[in-house]
Amino acid sequence: SSLKIGLIPADGIGREVIPAARQAIEALGSSIPKPEFIDLDAGFEYFQKHGKALPEETLQKLKNECDCAMFGLSNLHSSPSTKVAGYSSPIVALRKAMDLYANIRPVVGVSASGKPSVDLVVVRENTECLHLTIIHKSNVLSITDGLFRESVRAVAKEWPDITIAEQLVDSAVYKLFREPNVFDVMVAPNLYGDILSDAAAALVGSLGVVPSINAGDDFVIGEPVHGSAPDIAGQHKANPVASIRSAAMMLRHLGYGDAASRIEKAVDTVLVEGHVLTPDLGGKATTEQVTQAILKLI
Ligand code: NAI
Ligand code: MG
Repeated sequence: SSLKIGLIPADGIGREVIPAARQAIEALGSSIPKPEFIDLDAGFEYFQKHGKALPEETLQKLKNECDCAMFGLSNLHSSPSTKVAGYSSPIVALRKAMDLYANIRPVVGVSASGKPSVDLVVVRENTECLHLTIIHKSNVLSITDGLFRESVRAVAKEWPDITIAEQLVDSAVYKLFREPNVFDVMVAPNLYGDILSDAAAALVGSLGVVPSINAGDDFVIGEPVHGSAPDIAGQHKANPVASIRSAAMMLRHLGYGDAASRIEKAVDTVLVEGHVLTPDLGGKATTEQVTQAILKLI
C-alpha cells in the first residue's frame, strides 16, 4: 500500500520549501511505502480569493484520505503582521481540529567533530494559548502557569528516570544564550515554546534549519518552525533544510526511522561540509542547489 501525504505549502516560501521536502521523501525510493502526494489548499492567498484560510475540503481530505501531512506556512505578506478581519491562522485551526497537541521542535547544531554545540528539544503545548494555558510565570500568574507546571509534574511522577528541573521563562532565555548545553528537553506552554524555539534557532545559525512536527494520537503534520520570511520570498534564498528535516521527523513518527535517518544524515553532511549553503548560513547557494545537494546524498 502507499503512504498518502497531504501537502499544504500555503503561502510565501512555503511554495519553495515544501516541494524540497517532497523531493527528499521521493528520493528515499523503496525504503518507505510508495508516497502518494495529495495537494491541499490553505493560507492567506486562499483566504483572499475564497474568504476562508482553511477550506473544509482540506480538513476532510486530511482526516479521510491522508496518513500524514506537510504544512509550509501562512502569512499576511508583511511582518509584523496586522489583524485582517475574518482571517485566522490555518495551522492553528488544523492543530485544534486534528488534536495535534504537541509541537516538537528539536534544535541541534552540527559540527565536523560530531559533537553538537546545541542539542535540545522544545516541546510546545500546541492546541491552547494565552487565555487558557497562559503565557506567564507561575510565580506571577500562579493559577494558569501554575496549572501547567503541576500538570507536567504530575505526569513526570510516572517516569521516575526523568529528572525534572524548572526555570522561569525570562531567565530561561538568558540561560539558553549563556549555557545552551544545560537544556535537554524544554516543555513549555504555547507562546513560551514559540519564543524559546526561535531563540534557540539563533544558536544553531538560522531559523531555516529548525524543523518540527505537530503530533497527536492519530495524526502528524511536519512543519518548519520559521514563518514565511517575506524579506527573502521569491528570491530562491529560502533554506529548505527546516522543511526537509520536518519531513524526516514526520516519517520517524510514523515508524520509518531508517528512512528518516537517511534524510537527516544527508542534511547534516551538506551542513558540515559547508560548500552548498543558502545565504542565511553565509553561503551563496539557492534553495534548489541545497535541495539537490541533499537529494544526491539521500
Ligand atoms: P520568519 O520566520 O518568517 O522570518 C524571520 C527571519 O528568519 C527573517 O529574516 C527570514 O528571512 C529568516 N528565515 C525564516 N525562514 C527562513 C528560511 N527557510 N531560510 C532562510 N531564512 C529564513 O518570521 P517573521 O518575519 O516574524 O514572520 C513573517 C510572517 O510569517 C508573518 O506574517 C507571520 O505571521 C508568518 N508566520 C507564519 C507561521 C505559520 O504559518 N506557521 C509561523 C511563523 C510566522
Ligand atoms: Mg513561531
